[in-house]
Amino acid sequence: MASSTSGRRGGGLLSPAAAVLVVAVAVLLPAAQARGEPCYPRVFCFGDSLADTGNYAFLYGNDSGQPALWPPYGETYFHRATGRFSNGRLVVDFVADALGLPLVRPYWSGQSAGDFASGANFAVGGATALSPAFFRAKGVPMGDVVHLDMEMEWFRDLLGLLCPGDLAGCKGMMNQSLFLVGEIGGNDYNTPLLSRVPITEIRSFTPSVIAKISSTITELIGLGAKTLVVPGNLPIGCIPYYLMIFKSDKNEDYEPETGCLRWMNEFSQYHNELLIDELEKLRKLHPDAAIIYADYYGAAMEIFISPEQFGIEDPLVACCGGGGPYGVSTTARCGSGEYKVCDDPQKYGSWDGFHPSEAAYKAIAIGLLWGSYTQPPIATITKSCPQLSELGSSLEHKVLYDM
Ligand SMILES: *[C@@H]1O[C@H](CO)[C@@H](O)[C@H](O)[C@H]1NC(C)=O
Ligand SMILES: *[C@@H]1O[C@H](CO)[C@@H](O)[C@H](O)[C@H]1NC(C)=O
Repeated sequence: MASSTSGRRGGGLLSPAAAVLVVAVAVLLPAAQARGEPCYPRVFCFGDSLADTGNYAFLYGNDSGQPALWPPYGETYFHRATGRFSNGRLVVDFVADALGLPLVRPYWSGQSAGDFASGANFAVGGATALSPAFFRAKGVPMGDVVHLDMEMEWFRDLLGLLCPGDLAGCKGMMNQSLFLVGEIGGNDYNTPLLSRVPITEIRSFTPSVIAKISSTITELIGLGAKTLVVPGNLPIGCIPYYLMIFKSDKNEDYEPETGCLRWMNEFSQYHNELLIDELEKLRKLHPDAAIIYADYYGAAMEIFISPEQFGIEDPLVACCGGGGPYGVSTTARCGSGEYKVCDDPQKYGSWDGFHPSEAAYKAIAIGLLWGSYTQPPIATITKSCPQLSELGSSLEHKVLYDM
């Protein structure tokens, strides 16, 4: 490891004006611990490495050779590797904090009903929406990864623990919980992309990916879920590793305003359009459930279009990785081989060339919770959540989260 970093914000006292602003916001919006009754007593989360808060380590073991289970992962916020595939907190962590809840416990780290008093996270690094068999039948190599049906099976097992012998008795718990269904589906594309399956063929998988996400939502609603947040795909054309391996000599392959790969971002938008259409169908079928689309693409695009508003200097360069123009190489990766770590991860949009940095996750979470990147707006659904609905401006929340 070339250099270690603190990642802490630069020192120095606040100017009096800044101090007044921070105090004013703090009075309007006390920190999570002081906020009293959480508006959702529980959060349940499904997904892949963008949402995994530690399951991978429990499922595959800390000696599985996955570098994300070791430092420098986790160094910025937790100061140890927690199994999160980033240097700090993820969107689900910021959402739980905003709701006044403790960090959502990885399902595989708990045992008793009491362990899951605030919910559970089923997301696992590497997880796909569709089963590995789907890909193998199409000649696409796929390991024995976790997939959405498995995460749902674990969720049903947990319901059995929380409401023994009486799943109907779980309805009161289900209708007060917030469900984060994803991000999931990214690996259904990442794995074939990395095996150089043509994008036209990968595109043909999307309707099946959407159908799997849809049937999962339907099952959750059948079990009593009333509030579901369903994230779309990120702009994958802005991922440093893809920028490296799909590098092009043609200017028109890049978006002029971001430097991201146009064809890959168009593909993310294609997935998202199908997802949005499907969610609209589900809303008609289940009018008493709130099905909220979380526009990860739009929220993340703000970082690539105007990184400076988030204090990010290099949105397309990995903080931790093998070096090179995008901070990544094919011979080393963050945590393994000859890799480098940047001095200040807060200035980077990508942590390891594949996964966003904590700074990027924070920007996305703020855009979802207090910005305009949920549809319908999460603040209108969660009227009993004063911390989500009282202040409309995401600017104040940037200050709050910077404290
Ligand atoms: C794995 O073990 C290492 C060394 O003991 C530790 O630093 C790291 O935090 C562990 N990772 C997880 C996810 O528990
Ligand atoms: C939640 O479900 C319980 C049990 O079925 C019911 O008594 C309660 O009114 C429901 N609450 C809401 C907000 O739907």
